[in-house]
Amino acid sequence: MKKFGVASKVIFCATLVGLGFSVCGAQETLRSLAEERGRYIGAILNSEWFNNSIESQFEEIHKTQFNAVVAENEMKFDATEPNKGQFSYNKGDRMVAYAKSNKMRVRGHALAWHSQVPGWVNNIRDKQQLLAVLKNHIDNVVGHWKGEVAEWDVVNEAINDDNNHGWRSNGSVWFQTIGAEFLDSAFVWAHAADPDAELCYNDYAIEWGLGQGSKAGFVVDQVKRWKQNNIPITCVGTQTHIEISHETTPQNVRALAKALAEYDVVLNITELDIGFPKGSANNLGASDYAKQGHLYRQFMDVFLEEPNMGEFMIWGVTDAHSWLDGQQGKTQGLIYDKQYKAKPAYDSLIASLKAHPASEVKSPYKSAATQDTTAQDTTTRDTTVRDTTVKDTTVKDTTAQDTTTRDTLTTPGPVVSDTGNVSIRRGTATLTDVRMNLVGRTLSIVGASNAKVQVFDMRGRPVYSAVTSKGSVDLSAISDGLYVVRVKVGSKTLERRVALR
Ligand code: XIL
Repeated sequence: MKKFGVASKVIFCATLVGLGFSVCGAQETLRSLAEERGRYIGAILNSEWFNNSIESQFEEIHKTQFNAVVAENEMKFDATEPNKGQFSYNKGDRMVAYAKSNKMRVRGHALAWHSQVPGWVNNIRDKQQLLAVLKNHIDNVVGHWKGEVAEWDVVNEAINDDNNHGWRSNGSVWFQTIGAEFLDSAFVWAHAADPDAELCYNDYAIEWGLGQGSKAGFVVDQVKRWKQNNIPITCVGTQTHIEISHETTPQNVRALAKALAEYDVVLNITELDIGFPKGSANNLGASDYAKQGHLYRQFMDVFLEEPNMGEFMIWGVTDAHSWLDGQQGKTQGLIYDKQYKAKPAYDSLIASLKAHPASEVKSPYKSAATQDTTAQDTTTRDTTVRDTTVKDTTVKDTTAQDTTTRDTLTTPGPVVSDTGNVSIRRGTATLTDVRMNLVGRTLSIVGASNAKVQVFDMRGRPVYSAVTSKGSVDLSAISDGLYVVRVKVGSKTLERRVALR
């Protein structure tokens, strides 16, 4: 079954000497086999590609073998907003144009990450100011590539490495200045900026199993919480920068995919490379490369067999251009060698694809890729209701001339009342002389008796609306979860995020 419209088999022709005519045949590529199976296989465009300092074979191989693309560095925060409010889209635009003309899916990497953040952001110590910066960045960057970037790494590497189930604090301006709520807010804002984009949490070392204290277990717990609260996450990315000795990792990825399937979340392999220790570079032989191929193949087997996996992205094309040697103390981790010769890993991936007939491979993307634009899925999401509540919830609206007082999206902490109900984290919000106060499921408007009360879920869908003349409303009919409450008194609006439990 042909699931994708793009045929990218390499056509090769040979002139039969003496007979005076040519015969042509189609050779399967990673791309053509993946497309037939409704899946994406991709590789980064290295920074050298953006700087026009890469060999011509690179692009030829890239567009022939892959149908998905991501920038190595050029869509990160420091690249897209090097100075406050000054956005730089040229390189990203070039990649999007390349993807469009070659009918490839674009991943956007990455919006909120502690690394590769410009100095002006790292220096911010004020929570409201940094929330405003993050929101403005997401609004602009996601908005700029709306409909062109199919999927964003909304948050990258936010979990610490301590095996103690916690968020990364050290070195993260986001966590230190804002707290964990920066993650929830980033997802909500990204969804508001492009409701059709897939939104991922991406991290490394989540291919190490779901054991006690594991990063992967923590991710699954958070996905559960996000889903329960309507935070619009749709995918998790496992980076998978591993070593040749990490033989258990493919099956760990399978376990993670199955755990995420419970929550209807896709698992993508986003940055695969399988390196050898750098010191061994001169002693590697055929059996080493065969072993590397075997490991690559196992990842592809898992990828094709798990129905909620969609993208298989490799962090590079050729060993001639890889971050492993310079930054990781590893080497030779990709599927083409330094001379652009396909390694056994390439053949292993082809073999795995062929061993999984298209009729047996499920795609998490409900529609096939489109032919005319970047190959992004556009049908899987409920996009009928714009996330207006969240969009309006800006921190910039605190200027004196604005009559609207809006709170930022904060993660309500579990403030438990005597009756066991959980209410607004900080009790009340002030709008000149009007406040709202939640006790149990009764919302009181203190300071006004006539008010309109609207409640929205975290995707901006209205779940409740009432006009009161007695200064309070009963929210018992709403199910447990996170919501935004909007109270309108005359022309003034007051908004708070609340947890109803
Ligand atoms: C790496 C790039 O490959 C390098 O060029 C850069 O100097 C540092 O970042 N996890 C990620 C990627 O999410 O963005 C990193 O990319 C590799 C690890």
